[in-house]
Amino acid sequence: MSRIPTLADLGDVRGKRVLVRTDFNVPMDGGVITDDFRIRAALPTINWLTERGATVVTASHLGRPKGQPNPKYSMDAVRARLAELAPGVELLENLRFDAGEEGNDPAFVAKLTDGIDMYVDDAFGACHRAHASIVGPPTSLPSAMGLLLQKEVEVLLGLRNDPKHPFVAVLGGSKISDKLGVVEALLNTVDALVIGGAMCFTFLSAQGYSIGDSLFEPDQVETCKRLLAQSAASGKTIHLPDDLVGVDAAGNFATFGRSLPDGAKGFDIGPGSAAAFSDVIMDARTVFWNGPMGMFEDPRFEAGTRTVAQAMADTKAFTVVGGGDSAAALAQFRLDDEVNHVSTGGGASLELLELGDLPGLAALRGAPNA
Ligand code: 3PG
Repeated sequence: MSRIPTLADLGDVRGKRVLVRTDFNVPMDGGVITDDFRIRAALPTINWLTERGATVVTASHLGRPKGQPNPKYSMDAVRARLAELAPGVELLENLRFDAGEEGNDPAFVAKLTDGIDMYVDDAFGACHRAHASIVGPPTSLPSAMGLLLQKEVEVLLGLRNDPKHPFVAVLGGSKISDKLGVVEALLNTVDALVIGGAMCFTFLSAQGYSIGDSLFEPDQVETCKRLLAQSAASGKTIHLPDDLVGVDAAGNFATFGRSLPDGAKGFDIGPGSAAAFSDVIMDARTVFWNGPMGMFEDPRFEAGTRTVAQAMADTKAFTVVGGGDSAAALAQFRLDDEVNHVSTGGGASLELLELGDLPGLAALRGAPNA
């Protein structure tokens, strides 16, 4: 595999117009940015370039406007925040207002690169998308990965290829089907998997427990049985909750063991499971966490996720948190500075762990200066 060029491989950037693909797909509420983590994360690259005399033009998608201009997804709020953090840096309009972005249309690539001398990809969170702004510019322009992308790749490929053991992956969220590929890949490298979130109900159902009316994926029960058998055969432990918290059939807050009565719904792991999961995290030397343990947005069901987040902060292990909901949970509990690496990518971090490569990285390896 050839090298991915870094910023230093661009040579002299003074006086050059550099297109920087960023992932400014930030959470918004009523037109207001609720977390600017992804904007701040792009600043080291932007500053590296501007300090060396380059003119930086940034470009990003925001949401999924499906190839049509839509004021709901305009970059105005992001542009205003960027102007505060990096005055004078240009930001193009939402790339996905043009169908050519997702369609990887050469005409759209030509429009984007018109008047541009060099390309930098710092949009780790979008590198799993073979979209025009990700894979197009490196076909013709001297290109490089930005500092954020470089760090993400180093950390996540380090986990994949050379983790310190015991290596534990803590997975949550609602659907096992979304994470099947990464679970299978992780089973090759981890010593233990810890499973919480609604996806635990599909595993518990596969083990024959009754799960009441909890969210689960009936079509994935056989897959979970196979994963449980596969892990047992390879001497790896899959830790599932022993107790759960949720509501009973009348809708009242309730705690349960592993089985839930008819009509009950589980929304979080219970205190015993949270303590057991913490012990596993404390004893590990590497931990990757993706997906909350329950509905942490609701204070009644945040305890499991909070306990796991605290263990991530307290353990001496090298700790990596996949983007999306688990990063949001860490931020909610003000523990985001207490882990070694919070990835800016949700889907991208899982795909990189699973496959060891991403379309955006492959494109950079094919750049003329690579
Ligand atoms: C993300 O938020 O995970 C990235 O910005 C990618 O967004 P997408 O899933 O809409 O491609």
